[in-house]
Amino acid sequence: MGHSMLSGARRFSGYFFSRSPLITVRSNSSSPFRAAIAFPARSRSLTTMASESLPASVEALSLQSTTQKSEYPGCFPSLNPMDIYREHIATELSKATGIDAQKIYSRLAWTNTLDKGDLTLPVPALGIKKNPAELCQELASKFPESDLVNPPTAFGPHLQFFCKPKALTDTVLGRILKEKAAFGTNGNQGLKDPSDPSKGQKKIIIEFSSPNIAKAFHMGHLRSTIIGGFLANLYTVMGWDVIRMNYLGDWGKQYGLLANGYKAFGNEEALAKDPINHLFDVYVKVNHIVSEQEAPIKELKEQIKQKKEKNEDVAALEAELAKLVDASEDEKARRYFKSMEDGDPEALDLWRRFRDLSILKYKQAYARLNIDFDVYSGESQVKKESMANAFKAMQDAGVAEESEGAVIADFTKHGAKKLGKAIIVRKDGTPLYLTRDIGAILERDEEYKFDKMIYVVASQQDLHLAQLFKVTELSGRKDLSDRCQHINFGMVKGMSTRKGTVKFLDDILNDVGDKMHEVMKKNQTKYEQVENPVATADTLGITAVMVQDYTGKRINGYDFNLEAMTSFEGDTGPYLQYAHARLCSMMRKSGLTEEELSSANFDLLTEKHATDLIRLLATYPDTIINASKTLEPVTILAYLFKMTHALSSSYDVLKVVGSEPDIKKARMALYFSARQVLHNGMRILGLNPVERM
Ligand code: ARG
Repeated sequence: MGHSMLSGARRFSGYFFSRSPLITVRSNSSSPFRAAIAFPARSRSLTTMASESLPASVEALSLQSTTQKSEYPGCFPSLNPMDIYREHIATELSKATGIDAQKIYSRLAWTNTLDKGDLTLPVPALGIKKNPAELCQELASKFPESDLVNPPTAFGPHLQFFCKPKALTDTVLGRILKEKAAFGTNGNQGLKDPSDPSKGQKKIIIEFSSPNIAKAFHMGHLRSTIIGGFLANLYTVMGWDVIRMNYLGDWGKQYGLLANGYKAFGNEEALAKDPINHLFDVYVKVNHIVSEQEAPIKELKEQIKQKKEKNEDVAALEAELAKLVDASEDEKARRYFKSMEDGDPEALDLWRRFRDLSILKYKQAYARLNIDFDVYSGESQVKKESMANAFKAMQDAGVAEESEGAVIADFTKHGAKKLGKAIIVRKDGTPLYLTRDIGAILERDEEYKFDKMIYVVASQQDLHLAQLFKVTELSGRKDLSDRCQHINFGMVKGMSTRKGTVKFLDDILNDVGDKMHEVMKKNQTKYEQVENPVATADTLGITAVMVQDYTGKRINGYDFNLEAMTSFEGDTGPYLQYAHARLCSMMRKSGLTEEELSSANFDLLTEKHATDLIRLLATYPDTIINASKTLEPVTILAYLFKMTHALSSSYDVLKVVGSEPDIKKARMALYFSARQVLHNGMRILGLNPVERM
């Protein structure tokens, strides 16, 4: 392979045809399927790991894919154990009854609880004109003897299938122990053409976080960061080529304010040391002046208005007003920003320094959340030319119209009443937030030729994004707007640190880490065993924040509750970490090696607690697929809590230490597999599983 090949292309060829895959997943005795290849996704991250400014936590996710084809669409038995069962049931039931196998396959559903079976067939969904309960009985009686599933049971109109424990255990535990971090991933999902891997991976841009330089990093930015990071991981383990993009608020009059403020209050040393905080301080100071200057200006305007009503002479007052306005920080900022727009090199130099230094700091904060952006774009990066082109397309399509000297889009005239009207170009000819987004969407399409683009932005901006997509569609680019999606989320109330209001990401994370440290100290004996309590508290704190955020559906807001999120009780981040650390400690105490576990005799895992846990582990790959449909982190989080609850009720029944050697080994293999699945799920959620705490 030539060195000039793009890394993406090189990665792709390694994906399916590499002769030396990192892990080769061998076939399992109970399954007729072969060869899945696992490799670390985003090889780019491996190089990032070496860069000194980022902690090693930003590491690559694993990914596996297969060259095998199934007659059922989206069915990958060599990657997903449940697909073996769906394929088996559909084929056998079809043979026995003559019902279309594809139809059966597509109707087979998950169950919410294990007592309802491992898979269920809602018989009415087959669309056969017969009494459903009777039909269900009939299908149950016709289903043949099978090595994989017990004779199905009719439950009302549902045909319930229970996997036979032995084959399921061998497949599931055997695979997890072999595939490790790749278990549950499915690179085939992200193929452009599932039948022809050589056409490559689908490309997705995920735009998230997008804070505004020199302004506070508020809860909207934090949620966007956490949710966007999750989505990026999710698409990665589904085999998409993911571009993580940060669209900074890095342009506009506020940079004029900031630059002038910096000249008055700035300090090189402070800027170099802590650019984000220093620039924020400068911005606050200069804004204070702006608001002080506003009052007399407003008063003067009011006086002029009143005098005019009485037909009195206002020339003197108007001259005074002009003087005040001219000398105001706000007007100076406007002029400064104009010089930036006009390309003044000195003004741009200073702005670029602010921007670069801020990005450097952001990068370190993001790394604490396991996030590393591919692109730092921003409002400043949108070319005038793209905005002009977009504007022309809007005019040609009759979407743009003049209104009181400005140019607007009146959506009410284009079948979208709810979207109202939006200004596209201001009276003074300057573009707006929306105008830049319209230019940017076209630029991104040109530059990246993406298959999909997601904007992770608070629901407060629902209207903005709806207008963006509608303008795009109305300008003749429905092909583009159809590929874009707004992933929104609700508000968070009460985010403040104990020292005051939050300004930046680091403040939030440090504060939660401190609180976590206090909580840990309450259990002195345990605390003393922790090797590096400060670092552990930091990781647990970050987990606490993220898990709280993931706990409900995205659209629901929540209260930022430091007490609740840092508790070890209930479904919290610390609880999840504790479950992981406990499994790691069990493995250490067992004295067994990973190698030894692969020769465990799974036949010894006969207790209901063991088989139920295995049944849950079997559904992990389906959970990831489901999450890729809901795009809700809670889909994975709820699964992990369900699984860890099953785990904790097993500890007393399935003891490891003190058991007879073969049993000990088999149980440890089970627990180790559960740990692996917990680890994999946590990693997709962007969490760093801890090994001790
Ligand atoms: N910087 C914006 C804000 O803080 C969010 C940007 C969202 N993305 C976009 N393409 N408009 O409100």
